[in-house]
Amino acid sequence: MNNLKFGVVGAAGRGSGFFTAITCNSRARLEALCDLNEESLATTAAGVGVTKTYTDYEQMLDQSGIDVVIIGTPMPLHTSMALQALERGIHVMSEVPACVSVEEARQLVAAVKASSAQYMMAENYTYMRPNVLVAAIAKAGLFGDTYFAEGEYLHELKELNEVTKWRRKWQTGINGNTYPTHSLGPVLQWMGERVVSVMCTGTGHHYRDPRGDQYEQEDSTTMLCRTERGGLIQIRLDMLSNRPHNMTYYSLQGTTGCYEAPRGLGDEQKIWLQDRCEGNDWMPLEDLAEEFLPEEWLRPSEEQLQAGHGGGDYLEVQDFVRAVLDGTPLPMGIHEAMDLTLTGLLSQQSIAQGSVWLDVPDTREW
Ligand SMILES: NC(=O)c1ccc[n+]([C@@H]2O[C@H](COP(=O)([O-])OP(=O)(O)OC[C@H]3O[C@@H](n4cnc5c(N)ncnc54)[C@H](O)[C@@H]3O)[C@@H](O)[C@H]2O)c1
Repeated sequence: MNNLKFGVVGAAGRGSGFFTAITCNSRARLEALCDLNEESLATTAAGVGVTKTYTDYEQMLDQSGIDVVIIGTPMPLHTSMALQALERGIHVMSEVPACVSVEEARQLVAAVKASSAQYMMAENYTYMRPNVLVAAIAKAGLFGDTYFAEGEYLHELKELNEVTKWRRKWQTGINGNTYPTHSLGPVLQWMGERVVSVMCTGTGHHYRDPRGDQYEQEDSTTMLCRTERGGLIQIRLDMLSNRPHNMTYYSLQGTTGCYEAPRGLGDEQKIWLQDRCEGNDWMPLEDLAEEFLPEEWLRPSEEQLQAGHGGGDYLEVQDFVRAVLDGTPLPMGIHEAMDLTLTGLLSQQSIAQGSVWLDVPDTREW
């Protein structure tokens, strides 16, 4: 196989965000699109010149001849759609999170094991330039022994809840961390370990939806995660509080260095490394780009830049294409996807049980 034929489901929503990364990749082809919304699907397909369109997902899987499906539908559909593709030997790249229950996690892990096809979770925040740079510096050992990190996803979406109604149930209709992967994904890559236990607590409720109902999710929740080597990660999720967005706040602390993402108003990406900084003064993270950033980020190709987000979207699809065609390892395969997704799911059980600490299963043992 020289060229991978991609199908996208949820093509009139988030799925469309993958189009350019596919069409820019010389080893990929955008073959078929599926969405329940017929009108938007027709407009979207015409815009990218795709003629194979479907409103029925199984028809796309069975009739279009695709090798790969990108699942960009609402959260509760990710697992069932992945299972349908995997049992047909069609490779899956799924939007986040991978599943919405521990039972679904078990089904998905079993299906990936049984299938000849590959599975990747499209955790795109791990493909952001500063996050890739911090990962490279961490891998080179300049932070020393890492033992503390933070991630925050602050995205007020009370109005969006009413437009994309599935969010009102699956993101703000459940207490605990319902959207953990963007915060936890980069941080776990930096620390190079998984979460073994989690505890979640919240701030209580200060807002109501347009029907006057209280959101089941507390306005701000914090989950504390204990890592394999005894480190601590603090993840804040807030989809309800009135405030400016900040979906990309992170920090990392090690014995010989630390990093902090910007929080707004002129703040910068900054790093302190014992071996590189004068005294206790920060340096701009970007000063280390030339030395540590992988070549494909430093000198992105034309096609990479066309795909957007500084090339991250292109590289995410490229990692998947290479895994399928060349057998290279997937940075976000089923177990890495589960490390992130299950921590969030267990945080929901923790807060429901009065903020107790709960073990996070390691799916490599399933
Ligand atoms: N990684 C990111 O940065 C990022 C950003 C936004 C959304 N997301 C994720 O993407 C997913 C979709 O989010 P969204 O904001 O696009 O939602 P959305 O509701 O705007 O779009 C979902 C699309 O899926 C279609 N759809 C629903 N059920 C379908 C079915 N059975 N068959 C075919 N099509 C169907 C809908 O018609 C719609 O066009 C969610 O899981 C969300 O978590 C990720």
